[in-house]
Amino acid sequence: MNPYRTPLVAGNWKLNGSLAANAALLAEIVKGAPSFGRAQAAVCVPFPYLAQVQAALAATPIAWGAQNVSDQASGAFTGEVSCDMLREFGCRYVIVGHSERRAIYGEGDGAVAAKAKAAIAAGLCPIVCVGETLAERESGVTADVVRRQLAAVIDAVGAQGIAKSVIAYEPVWAIGTGKTATPDQAQEVHALIRTQVADADAGVARGVQVLYGGSVKAGNARDLFAQSDIDGGLIGGASLVAADFLAICAAAS
Ligand code: 13P
Repeated sequence: MNPYRTPLVAGNWKLNGSLAANAALLAEIVKGAPSFGRAQAAVCVPFPYLAQVQAALAATPIAWGAQNVSDQASGAFTGEVSCDMLREFGCRYVIVGHSERRAIYGEGDGAVAAKAKAAIAAGLCPIVCVGETLAERESGVTADVVRRQLAAVIDAVGAQGIAKSVIAYEPVWAIGTGKTATPDQAQEVHALIRTQVADADAGVARGVQVLYGGSVKAGNARDLFAQSDIDGGLIGGASLVAADFLAICAAAS
């Protein structure tokens, strides 16, 4: 953590939830929000639940967002959801380039950059995910992979676009596996990310929030967030359990 940057903890609910389960989870999170201190919290939910989270969180300090978006504004794009639609439901954030989108749905660097650009143009804050697979880490190309993924977005949106974004480092091998990157491993990549942004604009690099994601739990959050270039977390599984999510938010406070 760096006192200059506001910590952010964002829950990524992925393909989980029901109206009843969400209502219970959101009520607990709202009740616990006073313990977040200076940390910001957000939940990124499946599209059908945006109206529900908007109603539940509108009068609270907790923000919300989506997990994907189209780079197109409107038209014949069956199954897609536009940035303006997300704005209408009060979204502040949208996750773009999550490794599950890249790996399962074939989203490449260009598609991710186009989504980030569309999000920024619509007044949303994209949470841009980058990260290497286990094979890439083991073959020593982590820095190259992350640099390539981030460069595509910087090229598309420029430093001023990055200033309106959040970056999330999520090593693919740590997602949902219980294998967290060590604080040192994560910090090393976060520092590379910040240096890459600094090459575009040093001031933007000082301000941009870079989150860590991948098996963040109540028990390891504090050590991760203690690193100088880690500004919070993008939380999968633990964001579905109110007590765990609250503890992680408190660890970022
Ligand atoms: P887990 O916290 O379940 O490992 O998921 C991380 C993630 O993918 C958040 O986007």
